Amino acid sequence: MRTIPRSWLFVPGDSEKKLLKTPETGAHALIVDLEDAVAPTAKPVARRLTRDWLEAHKRQITMRKQSRWVRINAVETGLWREDLAAVMAGAPEGIMLPKADGPEQIRQVAAEIYEHEQRNGIPNGQTKLLPLVSETPRAALTITAYMDASMPRLAGLAWGAEDLSAELGASRKRDTDGQWTDAFRFVRAQTLLVAHARGVWAIDTLYADFRDVEGSRRAAEAARADGFAGMLAIHPSQVALINAAFTPSEEELANARAIVDAFAANPGVGAIQLNGRMLDQPHLRLARAVLGID
Ligand code: COA
Ligand code: MG
Repeated sequence: MRTIPRSWLFVPGDSEKKLLKTPETGAHALIVDLEDAVAPTAKPVARRLTRDWLEAHKRQITMRKQSRWVRINAVETGLWREDLAAVMAGAPEGIMLPKADGPEQIRQVAAEIYEHEQRNGIPNGQTKLLPLVSETPRAALTITAYMDASMPRLAGLAWGAEDLSAELGASRKRDTDGQWTDAFRFVRAQTLLVAHARGVWAIDTLYADFRDVEGSRRAAEAARADGFAGMLAIHPSQVALINAAFTPSEEELANARAIVDAFAANPGVGAIQLNGRMLDQPHLRLARAVLGID
């Protein structure tokens, strides 16, 4: 499997039609949703369809094409235990936890996942966790709590704007220039920094207006340029834009190669110049990252 899934596509768990389309979407990771995209009355059918879908794609996953994640319902709803009981037999790669309120809750869900791993013959610790860390004002103010707490299953941190904006009663999330307004910039930056501080994936939020191709493309490019590892999507049309944004261009690769070569040609020198630009160790680290060199 590719080490970092770049494109993460949500699929409503009660939509058999959309679940059938997942292999052709090109998404690196699929997040089958049991939460907000599923009406309360449809939860039972969504759980069943999700389990069937997980089972049906197990073989494909052993070929490591797309990873399979499930977004369960929030802990406060009480539905999450039934969600896990239904889907863990399908051995998803990971669970997305919405409205996460901190490490204690991650440990609570992790303990339940452990029980299901035992029951289903899944290796201990295999099932990863990806919390949405910004969905209430209180959670948004305590993202730094994820930095050091012990959470071995934590694969990354993702953030969402929709629930937070509802909680704030905010009538806009972006300003007239298309930039996030302050509360959203704040949580986006915190998510990015805390994920990097911890060494887990930072996953940028989705671009809601999926018919706006230019906006979706700009958002995907910003995600990568700002240092996110991947980005959420809600529509298959956004997947290709995200995958493209996270693929270095020929020019970027050539530039990175030139930087690595220039340092190699000057062993033991910390700062050099290339075409009139000063380069030092951070530039070398970035260039090596673009080339995928550890
Ligand atoms: N996953 C898989 N397939 C999808 C899909 C998705 N997320 N979104 C759309 N498709 C499929 C449609 O079924 C349709 O298939 P068809 O050509 O065989 O008819 C095709 O892609 C084009 O879809 P389109 O008609 O443009 O959109 P739609 O009106 O069917 O659906 C949404 C629009 C927003 C309802 C849909 O994209 C969706 O359900 N997104 C995910 C919502 C979600 O999970 N939200 C929770 C996280 S915020
Ligand atoms: Mg939500």
